[in-house]
Amino acid sequence: MNFLIIILSLISFIVYKIYQKLRVPKGLENVPTISSTGFIIELLNKAGPDKRWEKMKDLVEKEGIGKFWFNGEWMVMITDLGLVKDIITKSDLYPKIPLEESFPGSLIAQYYGTNVVMSNGDVWRRHRRITNPSFRSLPVHVFVESVMKLLDVMEKVDNEPIEIKNFMHSLTLDVLGRAAFGFDFNNLEDPKNVYVTTYNEVLKELGNPLYFVIPFLSYLPRPEALKKMTKLNNLYDGLVEKKRQSMKSGELDEKINNNSADLLEHMISACNDPENPTLTNDELRYNLAIFMLAGHDTTANSLTTILYLLAIHKDAQKKVRDEILRVLGDNLMPSMEQHKELKYMNMVINENLRLYPPIAQLSVRKNVQDVKFDDHIIPAQTPLFLSVYGIHHSSKNWENPEEFIPERFENEKHDHFAWLGFGGGSRACLGNNFSLIEQRITLCALLRKYEVSLPADSIHKDKLQIEPDNSGTMGPYPIPLIFKRRTE
Ligand code: HEM
Repeated sequence: MNFLIIILSLISFIVYKIYQKLRVPKGLENVPTISSTGFIIELLNKAGPDKRWEKMKDLVEKEGIGKFWFNGEWMVMITDLGLVKDIITKSDLYPKIPLEESFPGSLIAQYYGTNVVMSNGDVWRRHRRITNPSFRSLPVHVFVESVMKLLDVMEKVDNEPIEIKNFMHSLTLDVLGRAAFGFDFNNLEDPKNVYVTTYNEVLKELGNPLYFVIPFLSYLPRPEALKKMTKLNNLYDGLVEKKRQSMKSGELDEKINNNSADLLEHMISACNDPENPTLTNDELRYNLAIFMLAGHDTTANSLTTILYLLAIHKDAQKKVRDEILRVLGDNLMPSMEQHKELKYMNMVINENLRLYPPIAQLSVRKNVQDVKFDDHIIPAQTPLFLSVYGIHHSSKNWENPEEFIPERFENEKHDHFAWLGFGGGSRACLGNNFSLIEQRITLCALLRKYEVSLPADSIHKDKLQIEPDNSGTMGPYPIPLIFKRRTE
């Protein structure tokens, strides 16, 4: 009898716990519901953010908000610009949810740890203070040299079309390495080097959708994945060590004082103070890991999609090229003043980031207190998803959102929060200028030399085919393009 009571109590407890998890929180009852099974199936089917948005668009667009059940709780997807503005501008009221809280014990939480992108409050301010100064003056000559190397390497490829996505990833990694870490990955000439192969292997493990759909799996050992991650972390540590050893005594302080230190040097300096280190060695490595992602995959994807857009919109390609030739004259690369004069190119860059935002969804935030929105109350501690892809593709925010119309950026008539290519508010992208300069220099070099087209049999001929973004950034599947040398 006692045994029966124990079993019944246990069952009731489990049923109550499941009910608690599944029950829609008070205040969210009337918020449109996005199918969770649909969402999970899309994730497992490796659908990109475009396909996910297509499925939920009608529901979410209506009210600018939708709820869905995922990872054991109800979450809210937001595209309403008023609410977006509130979240973006009040980072203390809407902190980012640390990975360790969403996916405890996961590989992804172990790999990225506490870094400048994912931390909050005073910890974030400390990381930002350390990393920010190196972005104030950028070594533009490094960008130019790497783009010149790109042209050389492309020249040696004798097959047409050229798979451009890999080239863009190699280019941006080389630029990031040299400009931010003082380290030459030399990926353009050595595309299969250990840094890149290990990095790609780790990102593939981190993006495995199974671990997002069944987070419980993270508690099971993943020896192979862990081995790869350890190898990558050792490579990062080696990179830091090499830098430490390469510097003569007093050199680091001197560089910090005369504002010539790069990002890695600023971080090493922050670790060095024996009395009061402002960064731990682990935090330095977590930041290297996040900068590898934020600082190169994003710009690489952006350059890839922009070349695709210009390949299929020949009129826009001609306009960008004519502008380059007019503004630059005989100069091969734009001076800092000329960057601003490339007005049409800048509109194309913005429109590309609108159509294909490399960060398709901002880090998940939560509200520290209840938030009233229309007839709903979003209870405190609700995970909030800001879909950049959705905000950029909503017909409530943009006319003909699926069309490529760079001119829509002519007088910046759009709502400020309808374009979140680089995020916004105090948590806006630290490297936006870095990326924009890199994009402009690359476009100047490539378009001056080549006419770009999409092969007739391309898998992208009807629509750009987008990869899943589980590992953090959104980009297309490999995309061979034809680069025909210009004769005029
Ligand atoms: C096309 C290229 C890029 C895009 C589209 C992009 C996009 C973004 C977005 C949307 C955010 C905000 C994330 C959020 O609020 O959850 C962000 C933050 C950030 N990005 Fe970028 N980014 C790009 C390039 C770069 C580069 C080149 C670097 C560094 C070299 C960089 C470093 C960062 C950092 C450190 C943050 C965190 C800022 C903070 O929270 O204080 N990004 N980026």
